Amino acid sequence: MILGIESSCDETAAAVVEDGRAIRSSVVASQLDVHARYGGVVPELASREHLRAIVPVVRESLDRAGTQLSDLDAIAVTQGPGLIGSLLVGITYGKALCFASGKPLIAVNHLEGHIHAVAMEAGDFDYPAVALIASGGHTHLFVMPEPERYELAGKTRDDAAGEAYDKVAKLLGFSYPGGPILDRIAPFGNPNAVQFTSPKMKGNPMDFSFSGMKTAVLRWVEARDMHAEIETRKKLAAANPHASLDQWLELTPHPTRDLIASFQATVIDELLRRTIAVAENCDARTVIISGGVACNAGLRQAARNARTAFPIHFPTPSLSTDNAAMIAAAAFPKWKRSEFADFTLPAKASMPLAT
Ligand code: KG4
Ligand code: ZN
Repeated sequence: MILGIESSCDETAAAVVEDGRAIRSSVVASQLDVHARYGGVVPELASREHLRAIVPVVRESLDRAGTQLSDLDAIAVTQGPGLIGSLLVGITYGKALCFASGKPLIAVNHLEGHIHAVAMEAGDFDYPAVALIASGGHTHLFVMPEPERYELAGKTRDDAAGEAYDKVAKLLGFSYPGGPILDRIAPFGNPNAVQFTSPKMKGNPMDFSFSGMKTAVLRWVEARDMHAEIETRKKLAAANPHASLDQWLELTPHPTRDLIASFQATVIDELLRRTIAVAENCDARTVIISGGVACNAGLRQAARNARTAFPIHFPTPSLSTDNAAMIAAAAFPKWKRSEFADFTLPAKASMPLAT
């Protein structure tokens, strides 16, 4: 039984997982309301919020699981990648718990956690596997020839996919994070209305680039002088960051809905086309898609329609976004190998899973 602690970005999370699979508890304290007014995560505020939340969140995860520290086999923490001040809170608290209880400490890479979020539900999958992790901070494609071996097949050259969603949404006046809002508006527009040109990139054709799309949206906004319309949405975002779909739709005329639908269709195509190409190239027997953008309804539908020779697995939405159950699950094979960290374990803002 492993207690997982995750604090790499703007969610303070703790979970108790048994045998790497059975979630006994999973508690996530989101800081969305703190960061919403700034339109993105403010690192200094994130660290402070983690400090506030870490003790009650861990306590609640133990209570909900009906366990105590003494029942645990190990404590796992996210070592990186992430915001250094945020990571330090989870790592330091994890070390303190290990010091007090004599339990071993396990270090987990956040990206490996996202991959384990799928394994927890889908069970042992067939290898080789291909994993796409698309979130607010990461867009990485990995080939996994066998469990726990990762080869980097592609990554974003600029913005992460979720970051692109959030930036485009902010530009259009929606509240933060914009990914889920644009996803819900997209079905109300025409996905073929606006053509986004695919960036011409030298080097690895499996790399992603999303920053050009953000610039294209900006140009579109300027050319059509959409500022008045955007202001009405900004007002709603300021008054109610949890506005309903109907409220957003009321302030979003058809040409803007078309723009959003086209943006979403292009991002989905960029993600899925490369993921499938890498999978076909390595004769993958499984594809997994995880990270916050894996919540995207359009992406899930497009994956279902793709009729591939291999299954494409997504975690349930609550396990797609940042959580600590995935950290505890990723720690399980390390616990079996007694792969423990000592108290000098550093936080790592950058921590490649593979090169
Ligand atoms: O994995 P996550 O919780 O945190 C990071 O590790 O970054 O992902 C959060 C990101 C945000 O950028 C958010 O806008 C995006 O995932 N996201 C979505 C959707 N739900 C969350 N993007 C597109 N469509 C969604 N439905
Ligand atoms: Zn994440």
